Amino acid sequence: MSVEVPFRTIIEPFRIKAVEPIPLTTRAERESLLDRAGYNLFKLHAEHVTIDLLTDSGTGAMSDRQWAALLAGDESYAGSRSYDHFETTVKRLTGFEHVFPTHQGRAAERILFEAVVKPGDVVPNNTHFDTTRANLEHVGGVALDLPRSGHPHFGGNMDLERLGQVLAGDRPVPLVMMTLTNNAVGGQPVSLENLRAVRALCDRHQVPLFVDAARFAENAWLIKRREPGYQDHTPEQIARELFGLADGCTVSAKKDGIVNIGGILATHRADWARKFEVLLILSEGFPTYGGLAGRDLEAMAVGLIEALDPDYLRYREATVAYLARGLEKAGLPIVTPPGGHAVFVDAARALPKMPKSQLPAQAIAIELYREGGVRTVEVGTLMFGAAAQHELVRIALPRRVYTASHVDWVIETAERVAARLGAIPGYRIVEEPPLLRHFTAKLQPL
Ligand code: F0G
Repeated sequence: MSVEVPFRTIIEPFRIKAVEPIPLTTRAERESLLDRAGYNLFKLHAEHVTIDLLTDSGTGAMSDRQWAALLAGDESYAGSRSYDHFETTVKRLTGFEHVFPTHQGRAAERILFEAVVKPGDVVPNNTHFDTTRANLEHVGGVALDLPRSGHPHFGGNMDLERLGQVLAGDRPVPLVMMTLTNNAVGGQPVSLENLRAVRALCDRHQVPLFVDAARFAENAWLIKRREPGYQDHTPEQIARELFGLADGCTVSAKKDGIVNIGGILATHRADWARKFEVLLILSEGFPTYGGLAGRDLEAMAVGLIEALDPDYLRYREATVAYLARGLEKAGLPIVTPPGGHAVFVDAARALPKMPKSQLPAQAIAIELYREGGVRTVEVGTLMFGAAAQHELVRIALPRRVYTASHVDWVIETAERVAARLGAIPGYRIVEEPPLLRHFTAKLQPL
C-alpha cells in the first residue's frame, strides 16, 4: 500500500519515433507575449509555449499501433468494421451492451441528460466536472456535488451519508453519477469500497448509477496501489469491476482513451439506449460512427487498452509524484496527495498576503510562463469568481508527451518562481465577458 514511487527506478516505457520541435523563447519575448495576451494564458499561441501543461485532454501522444490503426479505419457510413472493433473493445472492458461513439465527453453528457433528466431533477455526483454541470443545468437539472474530503488515499470519494439523505428525500433523482477520477477536486481517485457503497444505496432506492470514466485507467491503477486487497489485480480487472458496478458510462476518450478526439456513451439499459440513439443521430451522426471518423474509432479501441498497461500506469503515477516532490522541494505548496493526472499548486498558501481579488493563482501561473515558458491553468477566482473555493494552479500532464528532462525543466522553473514569491504582482481584470470569463478576460498587473 505504499504510495511513494522512487522515480529514477522507473523510465518512460516507450521510445520516440516521431519528434515535434518545441518552441524556445527568451524571457524578453515572453514578457511581451504576456502583455499582448492580456495576461491570459488561454490567449497565448501554442507556438509560444515551451511546455504546455494546460490540460491532459486530447493532448496525449498516440502510439505507433494507434497510428497504424488510423490507416485501417473503415469510413463506411453504416456498419463500419471500425465500429465493430470499437464496440467489441468497449463491451469487453465495460460489460455494457449498448455502445455509442460521441465526438467527445460532453456530447455523451448532453445526450444522457437530454434523454433522462427533467427540469427540477437532482443528479448527485462526487463532483460534477464543469461541462457535466453545464449540460445538466442546460436541461433544467440540479447538479449536486457530494464530495467526501479527508480520506488519505481516496480524496475523490462520495459522501455516502448525504447521498443517502438525498435519495431518501422528495426530489426526483433520475440517476447518480461518480466521476473517476474526481477531476474537480484534484484528480483524486475513488475507492472500490466507496463505489460499491454508492451502488448499494442506488439499489436500495432503485436509481441507476453512471460513471464519468474519463480517467478510468488512472483510477483503476490508484486502487491497485492504494486499496487493500487489490495489489495483485491487473488494472484491467479493476477497471472491469468499476464499470461492472454501474448501469452506464460517459467517457471523454481524450484522457484515458489516449486519443486527440473521441468520447463514449454506453449502458446496459435498453430503454435508455433507444433514447440515446435518437439523440445521437440528431446531432452526432449515425450510431456506428457517432461524431467521429472510422479511423478515430480504431485509434480509440487501441488507446483504451494501452491506457491499462501496468508499465505505462506505473510510469504515469511516478511522473506525477516526481513533479509533486520537485515542486514541494522548490518551495511551492501543493495539494497532497497528488491525483492521477495533475499536480495542483496551492496559491493561497504560496501568497498568503495577496487578496483573492488580486488573483494569486493566476499570478503564479503567469510567473511559471514568464520564467520558463510553462503553461498551466488557474483554478480559482479568475475561473469561478466569488464562488471559488480554492486558489489553485493546475499543472496537468499530457500522456506520453513529455520526458523526465521536461519535468525537470518545470521544476527548475518553479524554483525560480518560488525564489521570488515576495515580488510577484497581483492582477486586476480590465475586460471580461459575461460568461466563462477565464477564457477571454484581459488582465493587468497591479
Ligand atoms: N468529465 C471529466 C471528468 C473531464 O475532466 C472532462 C474534461 C469532461 C468530462 C468533458 O470531456 O472535454 O471530452 O468534452 N476535462 C478537460 C480538462 C477539458 O481539462 O480537465 P470533453
